[in-house]
Amino acid sequence: MKIISVVGARPNFMKIAPIIKEFSKYIKKGYNLEHSLVHTGQHYSPIMSEMLFQQLGLPEPDINLGIGSGSHGEQTGKIIIEFEKVLQEYNPDLIIVVGDVNSTIACALDAKKLGIKVAHIEAGLRSFDMDMPEEINRILTDAISDFLFITEKSAITNLSNEGVSQEKIHFVGNVMIDTLLSHLEKAKEKNMTKELGLISNEYVVVTLHRPSNVDNECSLESIGNVLAEISKNKTIVFPVHPRTRNKINEYNLDGLFSKENNILLTDPLPYLEFINIISSSYAVLTDSGGLQEETTVMGIPCLTLRENTERPSTINDGTNILVGLSPSNILNTYNQIDKSIKRKIPEKWDGKSAGRIVKIILEKFSVTTT
Ligand code: UD1
Repeated sequence: MKIISVVGARPNFMKIAPIIKEFSKYIKKGYNLEHSLVHTGQHYSPIMSEMLFQQLGLPEPDINLGIGSGSHGEQTGKIIIEFEKVLQEYNPDLIIVVGDVNSTIACALDAKKLGIKVAHIEAGLRSFDMDMPEEINRILTDAISDFLFITEKSAITNLSNEGVSQEKIHFVGNVMIDTLLSHLEKAKEKNMTKELGLISNEYVVVTLHRPSNVDNECSLESIGNVLAEISKNKTIVFPVHPRTRNKINEYNLDGLFSKENNILLTDPLPYLEFINIISSSYAVLTDSGGLQEETTVMGIPCLTLRENTERPSTINDGTNILVGLSPSNILNTYNQIDKSIKRKIPEKWDGKSAGRIVKIILEKFSVTTT
């Protein structure tokens, strides 16, 4: 059996790492299996890509399409053109795509039109907000995938409502949490908090990159003002995504997001260093999807600066609270954080999801030792 896994953007790397490790185990045991990794190059700067590959123990991609940045149409279109050539040359039996980025839908579409089976990991999540490019990518990818591996039960309802048949849906848990649990000890040994001069529980970590938050001058400035208020009591650490960095510069907001306001801006951090600072933070303010899940497992309060989430189990079970963009709502919720309340870890977020996924794939394709 020939399989191609696809990665493109930062969160994809954490999701595919445990899958590749799992396949390697079966390949070592002599299973009749060939696996290749394709990086579309959607994220290309060393800090957003290369360093994460190293830390996660990912093999060098067999192919890097080198697509880079561009408008959605341009980026998605270029990936479609280039990945089709790869499929024609390799002719795999299955491709695996993860998450909801432009690379996910582009590659799924190519494969499906060539009659190649598609497995989508992290299927069925819905924010019901079609202004999010990721929501469009999710719906379209799920509509054409053959195997839908889901992280939480809300996805069963979502997919059923869209007419996806039950036999395609597999509730396996969360591969991003596999990666978190297997790297947590190593991450805690890092010295990032010390290097940044942070005191445990006395700082708040912020990440922002959603176009709806950062591509709008008013929103970005309003968020900056909220952070300046919070930073009167706790240091703010803000590893800045390249998109957000560009916008802070463009809108001349450097004075607001500054050391003078007790807001520490850093480059995006490598995975282990990032988990290191999250693990002893007081709270997290974010618009990221993955971070809502990681904070839930680490028991760190997470205020999500969005009106919706496609990950309801992080709210129902975990530490996540949707606060939207209203400054008073963000500050009120922040002031009511109670770290003594114990929350649950969602079902099957136990570090064994990749094992479940690979087992299902090998069974469905009747792969055995040669
Ligand atoms: C993408 C994903 C988003 C995911 C996020 C994680 C889509 C539609 N969006 O958003 O779902 O949560 O990645 O980071 O696929 N840039 C660099 N270096 C890089 C990559 C990007 O400088 O390595 C800059 C470029 O100027 C680019 C901007 O960041 O224009 C945005 O990158 P892009 O890949 O378009 O989308 P993200 O905002 O990163």
